Parts: sequence; structure tokens; C-alpha cells
Amino acid sequence: MHILILGAGGREHTFAYKIAQSPKCEKLFVAPGNAGTAGIATNVDISVTDFEAIKKLVLDKNIDMVVVGPEDPLVHGVYDFFKNDKELGHVAVIGPSKRGALLEGSKERAKEFMAMYNIPTAAYESFKAESLDAGKAFLEELKPPYVLKADGLAAGKGVVILNDLDEAKAELTDMLTNKKFGAASETVVIEEFLDGIELSVFVLTDGKNYITLPTAKDYKRIGEGDKGLNTGGMGAVSPVPFANAAFMEKIENRIVKPTIEGLKAEEIEYKGFIFIGLIKVGDDPKVIEYNVRMGDPETEVVLPRIKNDLVDVFEKVAAQKLDEVELDLDPRSAATVMLVSGGYPEAYEKGKVLTGSETVTDSLVFHAGTHLKDEEVVTSGGRVMAVTSLHEDFKEALKTSYKNIEKIKFDKMNYRKDIGFDL
Ligand code: AMP
Ligand code: GLY
Repeated sequence: MHILILGAGGREHTFAYKIAQSPKCEKLFVAPGNAGTAGIATNVDISVTDFEAIKKLVLDKNIDMVVVGPEDPLVHGVYDFFKNDKELGHVAVIGPSKRGALLEGSKERAKEFMAMYNIPTAAYESFKAESLDAGKAFLEELKPPYVLKADGLAAGKGVVILNDLDEAKAELTDMLTNKKFGAASETVVIEEFLDGIELSVFVLTDGKNYITLPTAKDYKRIGEGDKGLNTGGMGAVSPVPFANAAFMEKIENRIVKPTIEGLKAEEIEYKGFIFIGLIKVGDDPKVIEYNVRMGDPETEVVLPRIKNDLVDVFEKVAAQKLDEVELDLDPRSAATVMLVSGGYPEAYEKGKVLTGSETVTDSLVFHAGTHLKDEEVVTSGGRVMAVTSLHEDFKEALKTSYKNIEKIKFDKMNYRKDIGFDL
């Protein structure tokens, strides 16, 4: 098969690494890809939302399957674009339809979906500029901290949590009236603060059947001890030690099954991943958010634990025969540490020469923000590289990653030294 992966991060390098291992994969393309995917696939420099350019590539290269990494093309309807195009109808797209992707594309839609199917989540109300005063009154009814969420996609920055009521009211005004996040904050969801420990569950579905993939926990804050600004994710561990069988059963029965049933009831085509962000409140799981893709860096710890041929699994997804797949998991834990550019998630410099990653032998190195310049690897993003290791004990896996990070160098490299500290 000829396969195309859309995206350019550590998640996509991990997909490429797994897909390249499949005997079914004859040719692998990544658009736009990074220096890591360049080593195992052909990078094509086109944007993930340029559907016409993607179509041309798919037809030129006889591509049979497209695996969509990030949410943007999904929310913009790449699945539907393929389905409705006479020349592309035969191509398998791994990712949900536009209606499915709205579970991530609109927080209000996600909350309404959860309410409809009795899926446990924080109590909420949503507001527009016309209802600003009602929003402020709603804030007054709540106890701090106040959780405000821009409805639409805001590059991971759309959730603001504040302790002070006046600051929360000012933030609401900023979002609604001053369009702080542009069109994304025309609607704002205000919700109850949930106090507990976070984890994520990943589900792969064909729209009829589903399989639950390993759990993972990521570390979103830039600073050790979960301090400082939010990032895309500074590291991750899989499985999550506290997600025991009894807790997983609650997740399955209260959240995963009703989610799949809801998609079916609404006749939503969904052939892809559902990433469910959860908080464990007491002993009960509650949903914080849906994402309609895999997480990054969660993919870097989830996929290396899956022993199945991933192309085989995706073929079953496309054929809606996922019930024929039995997941074969590596029982070891996986842990990854993300190397980032100094300054990230605020301003940082790019174009730094990166050396040493090719000398790492007992960890998996997944490139994120890198590209090749005159045969050299240079940094091109805030999150640069993820170093994943496997071991029976996740702490040992982390030790191996940290040992190997010593070999990797670039100017102003930064990383968290405490991944897994709370587990
Ligand atoms: P999201 O962009 O929806 O993933 O939200 C970003 C982060 O905000 C989450 O990972 C949580 O840490 C936090 N968060 C979101 N909603 C809530 C909530 N209702 N209660 C507590 N924390 C929340
Ligand atoms: N690591 C969080 C995400 O991918 O959204």
C-alpha cells in the first residue's frame, strides 16, 4: 500500500515509525513531516489544510490510505472532502468526518453531546457577547477557581482558569466582546472546576466497533512540579498506574460506550481516534474534553506499546471490521521526555543545530520540531524531540530516557526533569 500521513510532529514521526514496520506498507509519505520522518518516509512540503494539494499528491502517488495526525484538517472536513470527491472516494481516510470532529472543534457541542448521552462531565453553561451579563452572573454563582473555555480551536490556549472573580469577569469580557481568541471565543463555555488527577484514554473506532488503547498521562506545564505556562505537552507515561481495572471499567461503561452509542445514534461517520481527557474526581472519572485525534506526546508512549501491525488495524477501521482486531500490547511501561527550545511556550529561537540523537540506541527518538538543512538537523519548533523508553517500571524507563538525553545537544535545550513525579 501507499500511505500518506498528514502532520509534522512527534505524533506523526511515531505513526511513521509504526507504519514503516508493516510489510503492507510499500511507500510512505508524510506531509509536511520533519527531519525524523525524512529518514523513514518521503516528506512532501504541503500544508495539512491544503486539500487540493493533498488531492494532487494522492492521485500522483497512487495513495491508498491517509492517516490524519492533527485536528485542523479534520475540523475543516478532510474526511468529507475525500468521500465526496469522485477521484478520491476509494482512499481510506483514518480520522472522523467533519461532524465527528466537531467534538473537538466546539467545546459547546462536546458539552451538549455529553449531556445528551449522560456522560459525566463538569456542570456548565455557555454564553455569547449578547449574554455577557448573564455570564458574569453565572460566574458569581460558582466557587473559584473559574474555568473559561473558548468554544472553538485556539491552538491549545483557549482554556483559562482563574482564582479571582473580577479577573474571571474581565477575561469573559475579553473573550466575548474583544474576541480575544477571534471567532473561537464568540461562544464561551464556563464550567465547574474539577479537582483531581488527570489522565487520558484513547479509543480507536470504525463508527460501529471500538478498541480501547492504552491510557497515558501527559505533563502539560512547562515547569517542574506542574508549575508555569501550559505547553503542548512536556512528557508522558503509559499506562497510568492508578487506572486500575475497576476504574477502567467505569470509564468503559460510563464514558466510552455511551460516546460510541451517541455517534451511532446521530449517524456520525467516525473512523479514527477519540482521545478522551479525564479527571479522576474521588473514584469517578469525568470528561474534561474530547479530542478527535491522538495526543502528542501521548502517541509517543501509546503506539510503541502496541505490537499489532498498525496498517492492518487501520484497514479494519476503514472496512468497519474492527471487531476482528485483537490488541496485542507490550506489558512494559513507556515514558517519554520532550526536549524543547529555550523560551518555549513563549518566544524562542529556531534554526539551532541538533546533534547526538543518532547515537541513542536504547531509547526511541521521535522528532517533533526539526528539519533537515544541508544534511544537518536543525530545530524548527518549540517542541523539538521526544525520547521514549520502555521498561517494566516506568521510573526505570524514565532513567533511560534521561541518560540518553545527555547525548543530545542544541543551544538552549530545555526539558522537564520530573516527568512522572506525581505517579
Ligand atoms: P483543555 O484545553 O480542554 O484540555 O483544557 C486544558 C486544561 O485545563 C486541562 O488539561 C485541565 O488541566 C484544565 N481543565 C479544563 N477543564 C477543567 C475543569 N473543568 N476543571 C479543572 N481543570 C480543567
Ligand atoms: N498533549 C495534549 C494534546 O495532544 O492535546
